[in-house]
Amino acid sequence: MFNFEFYAPTRVVFGRGVESRTGRLLKELGVSRVLIHYGGGSVVRSGLLDRVAASLDEAGVAHTQLGGVVPNPRLPKIREGTELAMQFGAELILAVGGGSVIDSSKAIAYALADPDHDVWDLYCGKRKAAGCFPVACVLTIAAAGSEMSNSSVITNEETGEKRGYRDNQCRLKFAVMNPELTVTLPAYQTAAGCTDIMMHTLERYFTQGGNMELTDRIAEGLLRTVMKNALILRDDPANYDARAEVMWASSLSHNDLTGLGADGMDFVPHGLEHELGGMFDVTHGAGLAAVWPSWARYVYKDCLPRFVQFAVNVMGIAPKNTDKETALAGIAALEEFFRSIHMPVTLKELGVEPTEAQILAMAASFARNAGGKKGTAKVMREADMAAVYRMAL
Ligand code: NZQ
Ligand code: ZN
Repeated sequence: MFNFEFYAPTRVVFGRGVESRTGRLLKELGVSRVLIHYGGGSVVRSGLLDRVAASLDEAGVAHTQLGGVVPNPRLPKIREGTELAMQFGAELILAVGGGSVIDSSKAIAYALADPDHDVWDLYCGKRKAAGCFPVACVLTIAAAGSEMSNSSVITNEETGEKRGYRDNQCRLKFAVMNPELTVTLPAYQTAAGCTDIMMHTLERYFTQGGNMELTDRIAEGLLRTVMKNALILRDDPANYDARAEVMWASSLSHNDLTGLGADGMDFVPHGLEHELGGMFDVTHGAGLAAVWPSWARYVYKDCLPRFVQFAVNVMGIAPKNTDKETALAGIAALEEFFRSIHMPVTLKELGVEPTEAQILAMAASFARNAGGKKGTAKVMREADMAAVYRMAL
């Protein structure tokens, strides 16, 4: 077990109807002016935006609004939000939506704290954030885990780059989580969300050593719980308890809990997806499902004990004659699970057919951004990344 620090300062308010408490939660923070940030309109259609605004009115919190955040959130909207928040004198950014809206809010919050520098500098690794305005959310999709993570991911359309930036300063002040709000999600988004949740734990699971037994059991329990409830939601999308299980898993899977004591995080599948997202604007969770089986088959021999443990403890595989056979059976079982919730398991199924030149460009961009190499299951360099894209075709 390696030393670790666990920092999860976000206040979680969870359950039916809790969005009505948003105004009071802001008031408790001493906040009186807020920018409400939202996406493409689902929160308008569901009436959630009006309910949240009414809660702020009741608490005497002044607010202005900016919608239009798209999945894989873009820089121009962040610049627009920064400008509006400054003019309005916003003291906090309230994201009403999913990972894309929260991440756009985090980027606005960084920009507000340091208006003399370009916020994109943070995402391309040029500098660290000087500060971050407070951010909070009313969550509408269980997926990215941004409500408790220290990460945000944005896309620069001009360069086709999708980049993440991690910094504890952006941890949310509070996250309002009502599982009922996720019932209106399209089935594809529910499934992509479940995939992303699983992936945040899997990215922490395939390491070379130092793993804590307790962390492993939490990770395995989370993975099994998400798979079970993803299948329930496939057949019964309005099932409250399943929505609740998955929503809480979303937060726990990316607040570091499922990787404590390990020797780092892999995050190569995420890096592969981020390049796909930057170039082809794919749905994040679906992009992960499309590359994971190929990545796993490429790396499993270098991380065999963990792939065997995963096969037995998570996928319920009875040990086979050799460890390699057991590991491969575990990978095939997860691939089959993705199929069963209608996730793509190849790039073609994802609707993307990159040319060889595009594969080389994505691999080069990933490797450059990662400083030449990345991964704990197997250290991957540019040629390895390109090989996985080719396998995933
Ligand atoms: O924009 P609206 O109209 O709201 O529609 C959204 C969007 O089309 C829709 N949706 C959300 N809640 C809904 C709903 N539709 C009906 N009813 C509801 N209750 O779902 C679509 C996807 O929303 P989005 O916010 O993009 O989903 P998600 O939470 O999966 O976020 C994806 C983004 O987060 C990044 C991804 O790369 C991607 O850009 N990630 C952020 C992370 C982080 N900050 O820690 C970690 C992740 O690994 C990930 O990279
Ligand atoms: Zn993710």
